[in-house]
Amino acid sequence: MNSIFRNRHFISEDDWSKNDLDTVFETSFDLKKRFALGEPHRLLQDKTLFMIFFEQSTRTRNSMEAGMTQLGGHAHDLTADKMQISHGESAKDTAIILSRMGHGIASRNCFYGTGNAYLNEMAKWAKCPVMSLQDDVYHPFQGLADMMTLFEHFGRDLRGLKLTVSWAYAESHAKPLSVPQTQILLFPRYGIDVTVAHPADFPLSRAIVEKAKRNAREGGGRLTFSNDMDEAVKGAQVVIPKNWGGFGAWSVEEYLANEAECKKAMASRLATHQDWIFDRRRAGLAAANVKLMHALPADRNREVTDEVIDDESISIVYDEAENRLHTAKAVMALTMGGRG
Ligand code: CP
Repeated sequence: MNSIFRNRHFISEDDWSKNDLDTVFETSFDLKKRFALGEPHRLLQDKTLFMIFFEQSTRTRNSMEAGMTQLGGHAHDLTADKMQISHGESAKDTAIILSRMGHGIASRNCFYGTGNAYLNEMAKWAKCPVMSLQDDVYHPFQGLADMMTLFEHFGRDLRGLKLTVSWAYAESHAKPLSVPQTQILLFPRYGIDVTVAHPADFPLSRAIVEKAKRNAREGGGRLTFSNDMDEAVKGAQVVIPKNWGGFGAWSVEEYLANEAECKKAMASRLATHQDWIFDRRRAGLAAANVKLMHALPADRNREVTDEVIDDESISIVYDEAENRLHTAKAVMALTMGGRG
């Protein structure tokens, strides 16, 4: 089993083997225990992480910054407008310079067609690990926290678990594709049977769906699709009702060439799907002990009703959010410290 993680980029779980991910989970559980015990675990003493946020964040920003502090290092909480990025400084120059000054670079950039490309350009030039804090394609740290939460609630053998990732209505903003795409790529690698439900005009990216099907064939999980939320939640042991924007209806090139038109089309399509909500009735269609997961923030009473998300016998969203800390620390400790 590989024990060399130092300087590896973390942009998608798809770049990491299942053995690598298993080491991340072992490390996450160990760090969670040490955190609970109040036991110091300063594995990144005097190390610096640069975090560049192009967008808002609560869980990601604070799990990384608190995580670096607990590991004995420091995280710079940067936004693009505070940096020369706002005057056009390139990803290449930013990555080379920051990697000369510290030990890790992490960035959130979810703009469709640019976020993942920006991270990959930094990764090409950086001399330290580059981590995605969510982009337009992947949200790898969310995927790890989701898996850790599933292990905690359903045990380490997740083969045959029936889990539904469902599109849901929201008004706060057009959420990126990256959370459901990460989930459908990752969960079937652990033998989970994933059902994906969405209105026909809110598809995920075709290339990711094809890759996820290959992952399912190799991992032993199943991946099925539906355009009917009721059908999709029937018998599910876990339901993840989550909005995503209708970006997947267009290729990146089509979207960027007609951005204003695409946004208008997304808004008018969205208005027709207000009934895509996870409520008490739909929870009743699921398995008897169904669990609700959500990356958060949730559009309450649009994606999921207060009644369901606040029902502690169903909702495990706060465990999922807490696990962002432990999994983030594991990746940082392994890639910024560890054996070279
Ligand atoms: N789930 C998640 O990434 O939350 P934030 O947007 O608050 O970081």
